[in-house]
Amino acid sequence: MKLIQLGLEHEAALRDFLADFAAAGEERIPAYFGDPDMSHAEIVETFAKQSRGEGLEEGWVPGTTLFLVEDGRILGVANLRHRLTDHLRRFGGHVGYSIRPSERNQGFATRLLEEVKAYARVTLGIDSLLVTCEPENAASARVIEKCGGVLEDESFYEPAGHRVRRYSIAL
Ligand SMILES: CC(C)(COP(=O)(O)OP(=O)(O)OC[C@H]1O[C@@H](n2cnc3c(N)ncnc32)[C@H](O)[C@@H]1OP(=O)(O)O)[C@@H](O)C(=O)NCCC(=O)NCCS
Repeated sequence: MKLIQLGLEHEAALRDFLADFAAAGEERIPAYFGDPDMSHAEIVETFAKQSRGEGLEEGWVPGTTLFLVEDGRILGVANLRHRLTDHLRRFGGHVGYSIRPSERNQGFATRLLEEVKAYARVTLGIDSLLVTCEPENAASARVIEKCGGVLEDESFYEPAGHRVRRYSIAL
């Protein structure tokens, strides 16, 4: 199992990964910012540019999209923001993630977040990760806690329209 950035060779694997969410009726995939109208080559290029901080939309910071892969199959995706904005500090934090619906509850999100922690520390020199979730998302809260998350606070965040838990993870 390894963490990869999307390449041209992952076209079929990405299609299969996205089809898993569609089959489960999940239209929104947290942490995945691919555009279905783009070709695979354009998606690869867009992710590479986001990671380098090129062509960012207003208010966006550089972010690296990382996929957890086993035997050529994509199990999950994470987006690691290289730094925080005021908004991300309240909601979103450094990292978001999703595991394909058919492979949940087997520890893959925990593995993914552990790999992302190592990537953030070694590649980006980040020493503390902020990770947020909705209190109702018990699975996500559990993943964050298993990965060393310490609850900072929980409060209603008006722009999101719901309560947000903020955890910090020392790297
Ligand atoms: C949240 C998510 C990433 C978890 O992925 P996963 O691979 O199933 O996570 P793991 O298997 O590593 O761990 C899940 C933990 O939550 C627990 N859990 C799962 N559903 C739960 C529930 N309804 N209530 C309480 N705990 C729950 C599991 O028991 C497990 O804990 P354990 O190891 O102590 O038993 C996955 O559900 C997902 O992709 N959800 C949609 C996207 C999302 O919500 N992303 C997070 C945004 S903050």
